[in-house]
Amino acid sequence: MKVVVVGATGTIGSALVYALQNDHEVIAVGNSRGDYLVDMTSEDSIRELLKSLGRFDALAITAGSVAFNSLQAMTLAEWQQGIDSKLMGQINLVRYALDALSDNGSITLTSGIIAREPILKGISACTINGAVNHFVKAAALEMPRGIRINCVSPTVLKESTAPYGDFFPGFIPVPASTVAQSYKKSILGIQNGRIFEVE
Ligand SMILES: NC(=O)c1ccc[n+]([C@@H]2O[C@H](COP(=O)([O-])OP(=O)(O)OC[C@H]3O[C@@H](n4cnc5c(N)ncnc54)[C@H](OP(=O)(O)O)[C@@H]3O)[C@@H](O)[C@H]2O)c1
Repeated sequence: MKVVVVGATGTIGSALVYALQNDHEVIAVGNSRGDYLVDMTSEDSIRELLKSLGRFDALAITAGSVAFNSLQAMTLAEWQQGIDSKLMGQINLVRYALDALSDNGSITLTSGIIAREPILKGISACTINGAVNHFVKAAALEMPRGIRINCVSPTVLKESTAPYGDFFPGFIPVPASTVAQSYKKSILGIQNGRIFEVE
């Protein structure tokens, strides 16, 4: 299977590449490193990427950022970051990938636990992750040619506890290798319209 991973150089993405690379052709896409580069906040950049990739069987997106701040301090620019990157970046990748995906292919997006367990300064992450989950549920009903779409919604990663751990009191971190298995389930399984919660 030819699998395109956008965010392949990141913590989750590199674990996913590792989990797939022995049995599949993995195309690693990053922002500054990788087989191909893309800026997911730019529709033009996404269009260019999809033009150069040719046909493929699966798209997994393990990228997308949001700003962290309190409701009262969050600026419009900080709100816009999550909208342009994690929300519309993933939605635009889906929009442009549809024509490039094989029949019965798959798309896997990423949200996160903050959608269901808000944390301090996580107002944008909660809102954006929730929107990504809801996009996936609705988009699954409109997927053409047997294409499936799912979302992985992980808790904080073991590998990320140094930078983010203090924001997740009482949350039990999971290794990226465990999270990668849910992407594998989405790519190689038969589920559609599912949010795979990993915690
Ligand atoms: N880490 C966690 O604990 C955790 C938990 C739950 C959910 N998540 C979510 O999972 C996703 C990945 O998290 P992560 O921790 O694996 O991230 P990460 O280690 O920071 O990696 C981010 C990846 O996204 C790429 N990227 C950055 N800016 C981009 C852009 N503008 N366009 C396209 N790609 C871009 C990076 O490419 P370069 O390396 O080339 O810059 C890298 O491959 C995020 O949406 C995050 O919110 C993470």
